[in-house]
Amino acid sequence: MPALLAENVTAGYGRTPIITGISLTADVGTITTIVGPNGAGKSTFAKTLVGILRTTTGRILVDDVDITKMPGHLIPRNGLVYVPQNDNVFKSLTVRENLEVGGFAAKGDSSERMEHILSIFTDLAKAREKKAGFLSGGQQNLLAIARALMVEPKVIVLDEPTAGLSPAYTDVVWNQIEIIKNSNTGVLVVEQNVERALKHADFVHIFVAGSNHVHGPASEIAVLDLASIFLGRAEAKRS
Ligand SMILES: Nc1ncnc2c1ncn2[C@@H]1O[C@H](COP(=O)(O)OP(=O)(O)OP(=O)(O)O)[C@@H](O)[C@H]1O
Ligand SMILES: [Mg+2]
Repeated sequence: MPALLAENVTAGYGRTPIITGISLTADVGTITTIVGPNGAGKSTFAKTLVGILRTTTGRILVDDVDITKMPGHLIPRNGLVYVPQNDNVFKSLTVRENLEVGGFAAKGDSSERMEHILSIFTDLAKAREKKAGFLSGGQQNLLAIARALMVEPKVIVLDEPTAGLSPAYTDVVWNQIEIIKNSNTGVLVVEQNVERALKHADFVHIFVAGSNHVHGPASEIAVLDLASIFLGRAEAKRS
């Protein structure tokens, strides 16, 4: 059983579904990416996984526990955390305080966990008493990821963690994502840059118009005619 299993998920904001019949898995030790054109429903799906939006059909399991109807605030403790694209840190709190907030939902000793996290996120360790609002955009994104990791999740869902960052800092964030993957955590990343997704991911899902249109191992996706797929032509041939 994969760490995260989403099965036939349909959800939206009002009565009309935005995403329909989406199935996907993510497992510890792997990076799974979701790519697709603007408005395809990538963020909607991410929000549905973590209980911000509710499914109208389907189910979501984390480590075999059905979290589909679980209150959102209990989901991190059950092993699934989410980092939104924007407004993902408390700017007036220090790095340390942000991590402490992340630790509230944790089961064990959060000070030990914080030291562990800071030993991985060395940029943040140097700035631990700095207010988050004074960090660079890239560092703020790293802090948001680090904070989510405070609960020792099975799977972390990241919505465009490198949007708006310089190429150099994008490398830094992806390196960090690789480290997270190697520390017995599953990573599910919404990524706007298809090349990046193919480079770092084990599995790639291409969402088009609210469906999980095409998916597979990154090596298989890399040889497809992605331009056609993004335009919604499912029959896109291998090039
Ligand atoms: N709060 C909302 N209320 C109503 N409709 C919304 C809301 N947020 C998004 N939508 C609609 O849902 C659809 C999917 O949006 P979503 O943000 O999930 O796409 P996305 O794939 O994440 O796009 P992007 O690449 O631009 O981030 C769009 O048509 C969008 O207009
Ligand atoms: Mg989005």
